[in-house]
Amino acid sequence: MPNVAFISPKGGAGKTTAALLLALGLAARGARVALIDSDPNKPLVRWAGLPGLPAGISVHAAPTVQDIRDAAQEARRRQPDWTIVDTEGSVRGAMVFAALRFDLVVTPLTASQLDAVEAIKGSELVASFGKRAGSSLLHRCLLTRVPAALRPRSLKAVVDQLRGREIDILPAALIEKEAFRALFELGGGLERLEAHGVSGVPAARRNIEAYVDSVLDLLARPAVSEPAAAYCRAG
Ligand SMILES: Nc1ncnc2c1ncn2[C@@H]1O[C@H](COP(=O)(O)OP(=O)(O)O)[C@@H](O)[C@H]1O
Ligand SMILES: [Mg+2]
Repeated sequence: MPNVAFISPKGGAGKTTAALLLALGLAARGARVALIDSDPNKPLVRWAGLPGLPAGISVHAAPTVQDIRDAAQEARRRQPDWTIVDTEGSVRGAMVFAALRFDLVVTPLTASQLDAVEAIKGSELVASFGKRAGSSLLHRCLLTRVPAALRPRSLKAVVDQLRGREIDILPAALIEKEAFRALFELGGGLERLEAHGVSGVPAARRNIEAYVDSVLDLLARPAVSEPAAAYCRAG
C-alpha cells in the first residue's frame, strides 16, 4: 500500500490538482485510493462533495497535521491500494512526515523561476526530514501547467537549475488543461467532463496515463497490489 505525499512550500504550485489526477488515474486502473486532504481549505473534500465521486476513491479530511494520523486510520478501514496526502502550501505542510511514512514525495512546480526557488527549498526540506528519520525519502519534482504546444525557454531553465542541484524530476509533466480545472467545478472524473462537453478530455486522459505510468515505474509497482490481484483471480 504505497503512501504518496504532495508537498511544496508554495501555494498554487499544483499539488491539489496533481494529487487528484494521480488518484483518478490509479482508480481508472482499478485501484482503491484514499485521498487525505490536509489543506485547511479542504479542496478535495469539496470536490468529493460534488456529484460523480468515482467508486474507488475515498476522501478523508485532516484539517491540521495532527489529524493526518486519524484520517489515515479511517482510510485504512477501506483497505486502499494507495494513500495520497495533499498538504497545504507552506513549510507546515512538511510536518506530514511526522504523521506517516511515505514511499514517494512529490513537489509540483510550474516552469517559473519563482516556483523553481520554492521547489529547491521543498526538496531540501524533504531531504532533511528523510535524514532525521534515518532513511532517505524518495522525492521527485513534477512539472505542471506546462503548455501543451510549445516548450518555453523558462521550462529548460528550470529543468537545468533542478538538475544542477541533482534534484530529480518525474519524467512525465502535467500539461496546462482547462479539463483539469473543470474537475473541481463539475466533480467526478474525466467521464463526467466528457458528459458535460468539456473539450480536450482525450488529451487530458493521455496525460494522466503517462503521469501514472511514471509514478508506477518509479515505485516499480502495479496500480493494484499483486496479492490483491491474485486473490481476485483466485476468488
Ligand atoms: N495542469 C493544470 N492545468 C490547468 N490548471 C491547473 C493545472 N494545475 C493546476 N492548475 C490550476 O492552478 C491553480 C493552483 O493549482 P492547485 O492544484 O490548487 O495548487 P496547490 O494545491 O499547490 O495550491 C488552480 O487554479 C488550478 O486549477
Ligand atoms: Mg492545494
